[in-house]
Amino acid sequence: MIEPTRTLIALENLDRTTLGRLLDAAEEFLGSDASTAFRDRLAGQAAALLFHEPSTRTRFSFELAAKRLGADVLTFDTDTSSTTKGETLADTLANLAAMGVQHFVLRHGENGIMAELATTLPAHTTLVNAGEGTHSHPTQGLLDALTIRLHRPEIERLTVAIVGDIAHSRVARSTIAALQTLGVGSLRLVGPAAFLPAPGELAGAATDNLAAGLDGADVVIALRIQRERMAVGNCPDAEEYHRRYGLNIETLTAHAKPDVLLLHPGPVNWGVELDRELARWPQSLMHEQVRHGVAVRMAVLETMAHSLAVHG
Ligand code: CP
Repeated sequence: MIEPTRTLIALENLDRTTLGRLLDAAEEFLGSDASTAFRDRLAGQAAALLFHEPSTRTRFSFELAAKRLGADVLTFDTDTSSTTKGETLADTLANLAAMGVQHFVLRHGENGIMAELATTLPAHTTLVNAGEGTHSHPTQGLLDALTIRLHRPEIERLTVAIVGDIAHSRVARSTIAALQTLGVGSLRLVGPAAFLPAPGELAGAATDNLAAGLDGADVVIALRIQRERMAVGNCPDAEEYHRRYGLNIETLTAHAKPDVLLLHPGPVNWGVELDRELARWPQSLMHEQVRHGVAVRMAVLETMAHSLAVHG
């Protein structure tokens, strides 16, 4: 059983055994009829989904995951909640806990908010990070790692290239953390200088040369330009970016391994980081990633419920 914990804030502090067990648990959900078989796991519990930033994949997959485990699900509309009247998030959680909510799933743009809320987390509740500023997106990191592990179990021998706006990406940080913990062979960080992390900030060899970054890669993870996290005027021109760093089948197969796998966390900006032809390419795993997201979030919520059962 996975070590009980009441929070999942980042992957950096999860050891290899714990991470591997979370992936194993998700794999078990994938291999079963998850629509009905597990409804007793969180029966009688409630999960509140508090999304302070837009989301499609994460929000709906958490909702589906919680429902498949038998929980009641409450969704929170930021614009019509009492946070618009000055109520703090800590008070919001305390009030929802008073109603009997056990699990909080939070997306928020502010770096550090998860750690801050963890210090005042109401008793008998759990907190899962569903995307925090540029810091972390742990369940995305887990589902990326699961997708890669299912196709290429020999992670220690893989070269993984991450291409795009790494500097502003919480996905990159969490996926890198997961792959490092699993002992990935080699990591490359590829993009224009403005999109690369500060030297030494993240593991991986950084380059602004796309061909060199893709050379011999087993897995390529493409990222979109995170315009919402840049000051107006600092964002590179999309056409220029596409010309220099846009990926298509020809570019990938010319430089990476012939059987290279392509991942993207979504949403994709077609015609910018990826050409549309990659949507139907058999080596593109975007929809598989999304499917794995439901199983990963079931594994995370079940772990949270287990922790409540052990520690209350
Ligand atoms: N990958 C991801 O976090 O997608 P959403 O923003 O749609 O949840």
